[in-house]
Amino acid sequence: MLNVGVFFGGRSCEHEVSVITGLQIIENMDKEKFNPIPIYLSKDGRYYCGDILKDFRTFKEGRYNEATEIFLIPQNGDRFLYAVKLVGGIFSKSHTENYIYARIDAIFPALHGTFGEDGAIQGLFELMDIPYAGCGVAAGAVGMDKVLMKEVFKANDIPMMDYIYFYRDELKNLQNILKKCEALGYPLIIKPANLGSSIGISKAKDTLELTKALELAATYDRKIIVEKCLEDFREINVAVLGKDNDLEVSACEEPITAEEILTYEDKYVGDSKTKMASQKNQKKKLPADLTEEIRNKICELGKKSFKALDGAGVARIDFLLKDKDVYVNEINTLPGSISFYLFEASGLSFKDLITKLIEIALKRYEEKQKNIYSYDSNLFNQTSYGAKLK
Ligand SMILES: Nc1ncnc2c1ncn2[C@@H]1O[C@H](COP(=O)(O)OP(=O)(O)O)[C@@H](O)[C@H]1O
Ligand SMILES: [Mg+2]
Repeated sequence: MLNVGVFFGGRSCEHEVSVITGLQIIENMDKEKFNPIPIYLSKDGRYYCGDILKDFRTFKEGRYNEATEIFLIPQNGDRFLYAVKLVGGIFSKSHTENYIYARIDAIFPALHGTFGEDGAIQGLFELMDIPYAGCGVAAGAVGMDKVLMKEVFKANDIPMMDYIYFYRDELKNLQNILKKCEALGYPLIIKPANLGSSIGISKAKDTLELTKALELAATYDRKIIVEKCLEDFREINVAVLGKDNDLEVSACEEPITAEEILTYEDKYVGDSKTKMASQKNQKKKLPADLTEEIRNKICELGKKSFKALDGAGVARIDFLLKDKDVYVNEINTLPGSISFYLFEASGLSFKDLITKLIEIALKRYEEKQKNIYSYDSNLFNQTSYGAKLK
């Protein structure tokens, strides 16, 4: 039985969504194959472990700190979760001692947004040398930054809406920035480069709206992207599962919104009683009503985008569709992309999707072991001891 550490919570705006995702993954993991171990990251960045973290009420009632606080060591091959205990008593001086709380064999990160989806925590997993589900450091980081993502897609001839980007300090010269943005032609859509869930995004039809939108985006990020805004379009999403050239695509969905821009509320709040599934509450057409030709185009572009980013595990690629023109809007890596309903619609259960993601993680890890990490350069023998470094 494989112990799978499920990381959730975290220091991002999407903390609550992540708790829900984490608990769903624990609940749906195949218990005949895996033993899920909940690892909760509090908003202040501390790690906790324990069975009470499998219960949603623990979070509703704010009792997570009744679980055991643990820590991990970014040391090659260290797969332990450590905790600290107080040793000694009234007559002897007390001191603290570390002890092994649990061992994990693989990791399933369910951390949305900053420090989780962006490759940051994946860096810790790499240093620990442990298999983990989803994208690696670079794919996570690039996928999170809308500018870097688009630059990678552009280099791979993936169709997108025209865009420009700049840093917040360039807004000091507002006239110059306005001119550059307006050269794209109204309407425009203004986004902070590194957020998700539509936070800080607005549409502008004139200079006044653009100025306001730039100010808003600049409160969220030091990097801002301005895109030409498509009108009267449809949104189509598809998820891609696998790694390298071994990829499968899910059913296509068409999310429906009353607003021009899909909002945080559309995505997460909805009117359903459960509110348990991230994105589950959003109104959608599944499968989307598409011609064979468009569906094929979307599936091919989905795979191409996944490969361009060096994706692994699962990623959801969101498209803007107008007549026969297909544009990639963005890629969402794990867990933003978990989109189990997309795979359910193409015959793969959530349970089997989780199993597949862990299997892909193990395979990726195994393949990485084939890399040579040392190169015997004989440099020390060629350098005389005591030679001064300049
Ligand atoms: N270029 C565009 N033209 C028209 N609508 C867009 C464009 N880019 C984004 N949108 C709308 O805004 C929403 C949020 O933008 P997106 O880039 O997906 O940000 P997020 O990472 O917050 O989901 C999209 O789902 C879509 O409805
Ligand atoms: Mg989006």
